[in-house]
Amino acid sequence: MSGPNTDYDPVEVTPLQAEEVQRMREEALAAVEAATDLAELKQARLDHAGDRSPLALANREIGALPPQARKEAGQRVGQARGAVNQAIKAREAVLEAEHEERMLAVETVDVTLPARRTHRGSRHPLTTAADLIADIFVAMGWEVAEGPVVEAEWLNFDALNLGADHPARTMQDTFWTEPADHHLVLRTHTSPVQARTMLTQEPPIYVVCPGRVFRTDEYDATHSPMFHQVEGLVVDEGITMAHLKGTLDHFATAMFGEGIDTRFRPSYFPFTEPSAEVDLRCFVCKGVPGKVEVCRTCKGEGWIEWGGCGVVNPRVLVAAGIDPERYTGFAFGMGIDRTLMFRTGASDLRDFFEGDVRFSSSFGTEI
Ligand code: DAH
Repeated sequence: MSGPNTDYDPVEVTPLQAEEVQRMREEALAAVEAATDLAELKQARLDHAGDRSPLALANREIGALPPQARKEAGQRVGQARGAVNQAIKAREAVLEAEHEERMLAVETVDVTLPARRTHRGSRHPLTTAADLIADIFVAMGWEVAEGPVVEAEWLNFDALNLGADHPARTMQDTFWTEPADHHLVLRTHTSPVQARTMLTQEPPIYVVCPGRVFRTDEYDATHSPMFHQVEGLVVDEGITMAHLKGTLDHFATAMFGEGIDTRFRPSYFPFTEPSAEVDLRCFVCKGVPGKVEVCRTCKGEGWIEWGGCGVVNPRVLVAAGIDPERYTGFAFGMGIDRTLMFRTGASDLRDFFEGDVRFSSSFGTEI
């Protein structure tokens, strides 16, 4: 840096010459404009507006000029530096806005996008229904019994008083297995579990047996070659049909709510005597005529067929080695699928078996 000198001619001091200042100014402005991001702008600021930038260095020369020359040179350099600083500020604003926009784009979360859901499994509605039914009886102190689906012909029929030539055998369209001399069937009802229980347990017996059964039925909205039943069996001293009625009324109320009871219609089953069809009071119109204009659930009957029941035939007790003089019992059996259809208003039995999770999960995801 030179000291004060009255003979000093600014034209002679190259950094302060008008063209030179202009060149430095343009170079600085070009660099600022060329900066494409904040890091490049920072570098341009250092190069062209920093302490060691050409314009800063030129500024320092001003003090060395004779007073008459200082003003003009000062103005020139000052304006150039001002213009550069302003350009930096303006460019910074632009680049910051761009940066902000880019970050917003990169970090955007579209809250309207469908969430990626992990489907959690849910229990099949029929499993839940079978458990619910079992729970109702377990709460009364009953036990849950199970048997195989490939069942001995003798247990499925003979032990239940359905002898080989019994006409009722043909009532149940049976799937026979091969070879025929093994005498195995796909059980046509859960009643063989009665026989199994009586053969292996001493009375008192209080069991409920939910399970899968098979018949050569068509597959339509109300029939399926595979469906589910629940069987109940009680064998104890002094058991009467009144106990059966009370038990089924309790079952109906527990499943369908207060005021829903059952009625018996005389019927025939080889394993019970007397036997009855059990009807459920319509849970929609409650069996009150006119309560619902024309009840579609019971078709105005007020009652819905639910299952079969009766007092255990003494012949069945004898076949299982139980003394019919000392013990009596009752039994009942009904479709779980049908019961669940009532409870849920499902109109097509096939929905339960198609395995579409959209149907199953609409019943809830309780585990
Ligand atoms: N097993 C009969 C059926 O599948 C239903 C049934 C009727 C079960 C009367 C019983 C009963 O225990 O006592 O059609």
